[in-house]
Amino acid sequence: MKISIVGTGYVGLVTGACLASRGHQVSCVDIDQAKIDNLKRGEIPIFEPGLNEVVKEGINRGALTFTTSAKDSVANAQVVFLAVGTPPAEDGSADLKYVFQAVEDISPHLPNECVVVSKSTVPVGTNRKISEKFKLESEKTVFVASNPEFLREGKAIDDFMNPDRIVLGVDEPKAGLILKEVYKDFDCPIVETSIESAEMIKYASNAFLATKISFINEIANICEGVDANVKDVSKGMGLDPRIGEAFLSAGIGYGGSCFPKDVRALDQIAGLNGYDFKLLKSVIQVNNDQRWRFYKKIEGTLNPPHFPASPAGRQGGAGGGCRSFEGKKIAVLGLAFKAGTDDIRESIGIDFALKLIEDGSQVSVYDPQAMDNAREVLDGVEFCNSIEEAVDGSDAIVITTEWQEFRDFDFSKIADRLKQKNIFDGRNLSDPDCMQSLGIKYFGVGL
Ligand code: UGA
Repeated sequence: MKISIVGTGYVGLVTGACLASRGHQVSCVDIDQAKIDNLKRGEIPIFEPGLNEVVKEGINRGALTFTTSAKDSVANAQVVFLAVGTPPAEDGSADLKYVFQAVEDISPHLPNECVVVSKSTVPVGTNRKISEKFKLESEKTVFVASNPEFLREGKAIDDFMNPDRIVLGVDEPKAGLILKEVYKDFDCPIVETSIESAEMIKYASNAFLATKISFINEIANICEGVDANVKDVSKGMGLDPRIGEAFLSAGIGYGGSCFPKDVRALDQIAGLNGYDFKLLKSVIQVNNDQRWRFYKKIEGTLNPPHFPASPAGRQGGAGGGCRSFEGKKIAVLGLAFKAGTDDIRESIGIDFALKLIEDGSQVSVYDPQAMDNAREVLDGVEFCNSIEEAVDGSDAIVITTEWQEFRDFDFSKIADRLKQKNIFDGRNLSDPDCMQSLGIKYFGVGL
């Protein structure tokens, strides 16, 4: 089938490349000329395992092309996927300016009976508005549909090729048939719903996963008080298939470009519809508090409250005074918001590095993939090429991302090079007993 993808960001590029690999003829369009020029040469702007290969393979077969011309891209398309960004606006709602701009750009060029499908996460009701806009602006019949994506960064290719489900929100049976043809080679259940239900499925799925994370993080906080171990608790809970073990890893909270934005947007959607989504508000609050609770643990350990206040009025201790890390060197391991990506949006590692600098610490940082992106937002930190280099001479190591490299690292190699032997493991990656045997004080979450 002839398919156009509007927007070559993360979702658009993965969707385009994967559909090309499944036998479709795909044209990707973006307004960013430099990006399109790079993509034509097979240069991928993001780090996503496997994406490079799928894109190159599509280009070489002539099944995947790139253009800046909306007209050229959509003129013969049977299906057009909208995959432009919906960044959060000031009030937490999704900013839809790129979506409606894309609709305007493609509107005059769409062929009759083309299906325009939203991949972008948009508030419930948006596709209905898009449909109305087409009715006003185009003389052709344009079917609008919602087909939310459930791609995880770092695993996007596998998620796309082997989905758990494909959700198709359609109003017209004909649009449903065309979209089923797009996905005919995918072996998974297809959930065909109204457009509004499909839009809601996306928000509800992300909100539920975020709720699981905040739930286990609260359990972890209680575990610390009652001397229980949250890793064991998660395991014991997760084996119940009604609960499931996924997304029960306690830590310093969720970040990234999706959960924080989508959870806030759903709360906003609820409010606009006269409903106070109390549970979701708590999920957000717990997530915001979780990282700073951990930060205070670091502060309280390196600068305990019983230290006498300095004549300059410094109170010291957890949350007590400003510049509470004066004279300390802290190594932050992990700047990507999660493992498997170079994405630093809503990254807790970045937030910690910034706050540590503000609080007077010397900060060294290391991440296996996100160093280039981090350089653009971090000033005054030491960027290191390895774990060894980052932790050298530090008063504390703070692990903020669940990279396998950190999990596998042999800390006995560096134990003697630490100024103070403290590890604050915000992702519960290391074995506390092993750390103790190296004389390293180990602090996890809920252990
Ligand atoms: C998430 C969803 O998992 C995808 O299904 C969805 O398509 C995507 O958002 C989206 O809306 O586009 P992603 O943001 O890539 O995907 O990352 P996740 O793997 O879901 O992780 C999100 C955050 O939760 C990370 O910061 C991670 O460290 C944290 N997390 C995850 C935990 O703290 N504990 C867990 O047990 C799992």
